[in-house]
Amino acid sequence: MNIQLHGINDVSMAYEDRGSGPPLLFIHGYPLSRALWEGQVNGLSGAARVLAPDLRGHGDSQTTSGTYSMELLADDCLRFLDVLHVSQPVVVCGLSMGGYVTFAFYRKYQDRVAGLILAATKAGADSLEGQANRDKAAATAREKGVSAIADSMLPKMLAAKTYEAKPDLVATVRRMMETTALDGVVGDLMGMKERPDSTPLLAEIDKPTLILHGADDQLIPPKEGEAMHAAIKNSRLQLIPGAGHLLNMEQPELFNKAVREFVGAL
Ligand code: MLT
Repeated sequence: MNIQLHGINDVSMAYEDRGSGPPLLFIHGYPLSRALWEGQVNGLSGAARVLAPDLRGHGDSQTTSGTYSMELLADDCLRFLDVLHVSQPVVVCGLSMGGYVTFAFYRKYQDRVAGLILAATKAGADSLEGQANRDKAAATAREKGVSAIADSMLPKMLAAKTYEAKPDLVATVRRMMETTALDGVVGDLMGMKERPDSTPLLAEIDKPTLILHGADDQLIPPKEGEAMHAAIKNSRLQLIPGAGHLLNMEQPELFNKAVREFVGAL
C-alpha cells in the first residue's frame, strides 16, 4: 500500500498501514525508507496493526530542505498517528536513526507509548569526530550525489555473510539508499549531528522495552545494546545471530518472533 497523506506538518507522508490489533509504529533508519519493514508488514500484520511511514525526505514522502532534527521527525510521527486516529498508546520500534527518533518521541510523548523496541541503535550523542564525519558525508552527498553515500555505507550495513548469501537483499538496500533525496540525506546528517545525548533518559524509561541487536552489527556494535539494557530497568535484550545492522531484513523470522512475544506479553 502506498498512500499519500497530506497535512502532516506541511509534508505529505507515504506509509504502510496493515492489519489490526495493537498498533506498532516502525521508524526506519538512515538513509532508508519504509521498505526496510517489508518483512514486518508481511510477517506481523496478522497479529497487530503495522504502521510504517516514510520519514520526510525518504521513500515516497515529501522532501523539505534544512535540518531534520530527531524532534522534528518525532513530531511528524505523532501527527501521522493523529491523522490516522491512532489514539491508543503504540509500541514504537525504531532502527538506528529511527531509534534516535524513538528517544525524541518518548521524551515528548511518553503518554502515547505502550512499549519500546530499540533495534540496532544507541543512546549517546555524536562524538566531535562523529560530528565532523557528518559534515564530510554531507559534503560528499552534495558533490558526488546520494549514490556515493550508498557506495560507502553499503559494505557496513549487513553481516559479512549476508552479502554472499542474499544478493537480492543487498540490491534492495542499495535501491533504498539511492532513492533517498539529497535534501533528505543532508537533513538527516545535520539532525543526527546535533541530536542530544539520550543516555540520561534511559534511567527514566518505565515502559517495557525490547532491545534487539544484530550480533554482527558493524555500524553500531552490540555493546551499545548491552549498555542500554543495563540502564533501562524494564528491558530485555536479544542478540540476533547471523545479522548485521539491518537485522530485521537479515533475520526477519527471528526478529518478528521476538517482537510477537514482546507485544503478546504487554
Ligand atoms: C542509521 O543506520 O540510521 C545510521 O547509520 C545511524 C547513524 O549514522 O548514526
